[in-house]
Amino acid sequence: MTILLSTGIWPVEDWQRPLAKLAPERRVVVAGRDDYDPAEVRYALAWKPPEGLLAGLPNLAAIFSLGAGVDHILGDPTLPDVPLARIVDPDLTMRMTEWVVLQVLFHHRKTFGYMRQQRERHWDEIRQPAAKDVRVGVMGLGVLGRDAVEVIARLGFDTAGWSRSPQEIPGVACFHGKEGFDAFLARTDILVCLLPLTPETQGLIDRRLLSKLPRDGALGGAVLINAGRGGQQVAADVLAALDDGTLIGASLDVFETEPLPNDSPFWSHPKVLVYPHVAAVSDANALTRLILSQIERVEAGLPPEHLVDRARGY
Ligand code: NDP
Ligand code: OXD
Repeated sequence: MTILLSTGIWPVEDWQRPLAKLAPERRVVVAGRDDYDPAEVRYALAWKPPEGLLAGLPNLAAIFSLGAGVDHILGDPTLPDVPLARIVDPDLTMRMTEWVVLQVLFHHRKTFGYMRQQRERHWDEIRQPAAKDVRVGVMGLGVLGRDAVEVIARLGFDTAGWSRSPQEIPGVACFHGKEGFDAFLARTDILVCLLPLTPETQGLIDRRLLSKLPRDGALGGAVLINAGRGGQQVAADVLAALDDGTLIGASLDVFETEPLPNDSPFWSHPKVLVYPHVAAVSDANALTRLILSQIERVEAGLPPEHLVDRARGY
């Protein structure tokens, strides 16, 4: 019942340590480092596994994404047809909500302006609107989007969300599907993206979308906050919108190419906050227990929880 770990650029020791502590009886091997018989592997714990790795495991019973997203696994054309589960955990959710709230408040409270004033040793108030006059729109009302939107609504913002299927969230105007998209965008001053990367969401945040955001809102323009995936934003269009005033600011945690290349204009853009894909980092100490309980479910003949619908792409 061997567990295979493939953690991409994340330090594998971070996952080995809690696994050894919580399940010392289990054999854990590391892809690309340890010698093992592929036929002995029953469970794969993966973050951005190399293409073909999982296909080479003939007795695989389940794959566990080490994150909430699964695009990094579904992108492998050789992916074997075994259950694929993702992370749904209060620790991850809380981290994301913290980050989204931090960004919403950063732009709402004109923090770029105060940073500039501090550099200039300039003491002055920069007028800000009341939260109730600022319209926040969250794309993606899943586990992460729903929690974030509820907290933003509690802070008093005029809050909306957009999803694929209809949702109901008290205090939040809910829009869905292509038919609800334009109305959602037209009432959004701060646009938050918490969508999964799928063929439908690839390149979604482009010139067309950005042009539908209001320029006459209480903040004097729109703000983009993206913690979904970099593949959802067209970098050139986001930069053009920042330069022509459609966007007055952006907080970007995800990029088409990660790490963000040295020559990316985002690094030095005065209206952009760059984060290195850390909005909600998977904390191995917090998540290992969850993954072990998922393995126990499989061994008890039950399907893992939070299974990915491959046809849907998330
Ligand atoms: P969920 O699967 O729980 O939610 C996805 C949401 O997106 C759902 O509301 C779904 O709609 C909506 N959605 C999907 N496709 C479309 C579409 N075509 N049009 C409109 N809405 C759509 O995912 P999570 O909330 O757990 O995670 C969301 C994403 O956040 C992850 O996939 C990952 O990319 C990203 N993430 C980023 C992290 C970071 O550190 N930057 C950390 C963790 C996650 P419906 O409700 O109708 O199904
Ligand atoms: C995730 C991520 O999907 O960290 O969990 O991006």
